[in-house]
Amino acid sequence: MLQQIDELEKSALKKISSAENEEILKAIELEYFGRKSGKIGEILKAIPTLEPKERGAVGKAANIAKKNVEAGIADRYFVLEEEKMANLEISEKIDVTEPSIGKTEKGKRHPLSVFMLECEHVFGKLGFEVAEGFEIEDDFHNFEALNFTPDHPAREMQDTFFIENEELKGYVLRTQTSDMQIRFMEENKPPYRIISPGKVYRKDSDATHSPMFHQIECLMIDKNISLANLRFILLTALRELISPDVDLRFRLSYFPFVEPGLEVDALLKVDGKEKWLEIGGAGMVHPNVLKNVNVDPDIWNGFAFGFGIERMVMIKYGVKDLRAFFENDLRFLKQF
Ligand code: PHE
Repeated sequence: MLQQIDELEKSALKKISSAENEEILKAIELEYFGRKSGKIGEILKAIPTLEPKERGAVGKAANIAKKNVEAGIADRYFVLEEEKMANLEISEKIDVTEPSIGKTEKGKRHPLSVFMLECEHVFGKLGFEVAEGFEIEDDFHNFEALNFTPDHPAREMQDTFFIENEELKGYVLRTQTSDMQIRFMEENKPPYRIISPGKVYRKDSDATHSPMFHQIECLMIDKNISLANLRFILLTALRELISPDVDLRFRLSYFPFVEPGLEVDALLKVDGKEKWLEIGGAGMVHPNVLKNVNVDPDIWNGFAFGFGIERMVMIKYGVKDLRAFFENDLRFLKQF
C-alpha cells in the first residue's frame, strides 16, 4: 500500500509538471481529487478497511502525498498563468504609433457641438466672447439675481431637479444659461458682449423637449442699446448660421429678468413653405438685474437672448424628433 501511494504521487507530479495548459491541468486535478473517483480520495477511503496496525502509517503517507500533489498543482497553475500573461504582452501589444489611416473610421463632432462652435465663430466676428458656465447652479444665479423672487410664479415653468444632498441644498441643475449673465457681470466691468452655450435641465420630455438640452445665451450691455441692436445682431448671426433668407419678428412676452420681454420668431422655409417658428426668448435687461450685479442702470443698458440649440439644429436640418440627438444612433449622426 505504501509503495502504491509512493508511485501514485510520483506519477502525479510527473504529469503535473508536463501539463501544457490549464485545461490539461484541470483534468489532472480531477483525476486525483475528483469528488467521485479521485485517485487520492480512493486511497483515503480505503484506509478504514486496512488492518488497524497498518492504518497509521498508510494514513500518514497518504496525507503527505495528498499535500504534495495539491502543492504541485497549485505551483503549476501559477507557472501557467505567468506564461499566459507573458504571451499576452506579446500577442496583444498595441503599437500606438501605428497610423490608423485607411484602417479605422474617423469620428467627428456631434451636430449640436458643431452648431455651438459655429455660434462661437459667428458671434466672435461680431465682437462677442465666450463665457463658460456650470451645470450645477445655486438658486441665486439661476433665479434670484435674475429677478425671480422665491415665490415667483415664473419659476414654475422652469421647475427642475433640485439637489437634496445636505451639503448642496439649494443647488439646482440649472434651468437656463441666463445664470451666466449674472456670473459674468459679477466678475467683469461693463461694457459686456458675451455668448454662453451649455447644457440646461428641465422636467419636460417629449418629441420636442428633453430633460437635458442646450441653450445659447447672449448678453450685450453698453450705452444706449436698443431693440434695434438686438435685431441687427440676431439677424446677422442667424443669416450666417441657418440660412441667408431668415427674417425675424418679436412678440411681447414675459421673463422676470427683461423688460420688455420678447418671444422671437424666425421666418424659415420648412418643407418648401415659409413659416414663423419660435426660436427663443429675449428682451432688454431689467434694471433690477443690473443693480443685483452692481452695474448702474442709469448709465448702462442692453439686451439678452437665449435660444435652444436643439431647436435651431432641428430647424436647420429638418430633424423631426429632438431625442434623435441623444440616442447615439450612428445612422442618424453620420448624416451631418
Ligand atoms: N432664459 C430664458 C429661458 O430659458 C430665455 C431668455 C434669455 C429670455 C434671455 C430672455 C432673455 O426661457
